Amino acid sequence: MEREALKAAATAMLDKAYCPYSHFPVGAALECDDGTVYTGCNVENAAYSPGICAERTAVAKAVSEGHRRFRRIAIAGRSTQFCTPCGVCRQVLREFAPDLEVICLNAAGEERTYTLPDLLPDSFGPDFLP
Ligand code: THU
Repeated sequence: MEREALKAAATAMLDKAYCPYSHFPVGAALECDDGTVYTGCNVENAAYSPGICAERTAVAKAVSEGHRRFRRIAIAGRSTQFCTPCGVCRQVLREFAPDLEVICLNAAGEERTYTLPDLLPDSFGPDFLP
C-alpha cells in the first residue's frame, strides 16, 4: 500500500474508535511484509483497565490471521500532538518487528516518522530468551 493510503487507513479508523471515557480516538494501520494491511482502533471499557489501544488491536488482528512480519505502522490521533505509541504498544510491536517504521500523525494530518529503536532503545525481546 502507498504511504499516503496507509496514513488514510489509520485516519479512517478514528471514526471507529470506542473511547467514551477518554474521548481520545486513535486509529492505526499496520502493514505486513506481504503488503496486507490490518487496521485497528482503541476500544475502551467501563472497567477502564481492559481497554486496548489501536496499535494492539491491529497487531492482534494481524497475528490471529497468521501474519507476524510487519513493515510499518501509521497511527492517527485528533490531537495537536503527534500520536506516538504508548509504552505497552511499543513493547508489543517490538515482539514482531524490532525495526518497524512508525508513522505518527496529528489532527492536521502532519507526520513524524520514527523507527522502533528510536522509540524503544535497548529493548528486550524474544531473542533474549533461551
Ligand atoms: N491510545 C491508543 O490507542 N494508542 C496510543 O498510542 C496512545 C493511547 C488510547 C488508549 C486510550 O483509549 C486513549 O488512547 C487515551 O489514552
